Amino acid sequence: MALEVIPAILVKTREELLGHISRVRDYVKTIHIDVMDNKFVPNFTIGIKELQELPSGLKYEIHWMVQRPEEWIAKLKGPYLHMVHVEAVESWEDLLKAVKESGGALGVALNPETPLEKLEPHLKGAKKILVMSVHPGFYGQKYIPEVEAKVKELRRMLPKAEIEVDGGINPETAVRASGAGADNLAAASSIFAKPDAGKAIGELKDALKKGWESGAGRG
Ligand code: DX5
Ligand code: ZN
Repeated sequence: MALEVIPAILVKTREELLGHISRVRDYVKTIHIDVMDNKFVPNFTIGIKELQELPSGLKYEIHWMVQRPEEWIAKLKGPYLHMVHVEAVESWEDLLKAVKESGGALGVALNPETPLEKLEPHLKGAKKILVMSVHPGFYGQKYIPEVEAKVKELRRMLPKAEIEVDGGINPETAVRASGAGADNLAAASSIFAKPDAGKAIGELKDALKKGWESGAGRG
């Protein structure tokens, strides 16, 4: 468990993907790549083809906002953290096999309205939990503060887990989400819509640390 601000990249071309990575790579360890299929969510992005041979020297987590992520992961090799929505997996057996054969690791994601009970059977073996604080599909949406109750409960249940909050994170909401118990925060617009991505990441890191240290909600 380590405090980390993770740039989220939601793009439609390989060129944009590489451009976004180069804007932030000097300031972070990990990159969050959003993948959408226009079925699980009403938007689409880059897919398997554009994800081949990602720039070295960084860790990548792939946020699969697709139906049957097990079929996508089976087509991608590499040491990636595959964050799959519990609402989208049809065969957990196929999923676990695909993740293992890909050489990657498993993370589990849940939508704002999905209760923690849906997550519990799949926590074993998951390296990270991704709590959505917007309805997935688009960047630049408004943070849903009600999800903080789930973050608090998860942190109480799993004091050492990696818990990431994704959606609507800016320096103000970062303090709230980390105060509730998130040690990782994904952010797109509050980094990439700014002229100086390094400065924006620095502000988010300060907010994450401040919220985490306040410990509000972690008892
Ligand atoms: C939402 C994506 C998020 C999104 C974050 O569907 O999963 O990762 O890109 O964008 P912001 O930080 O702008 O809410
Ligand atoms: Zn995401």
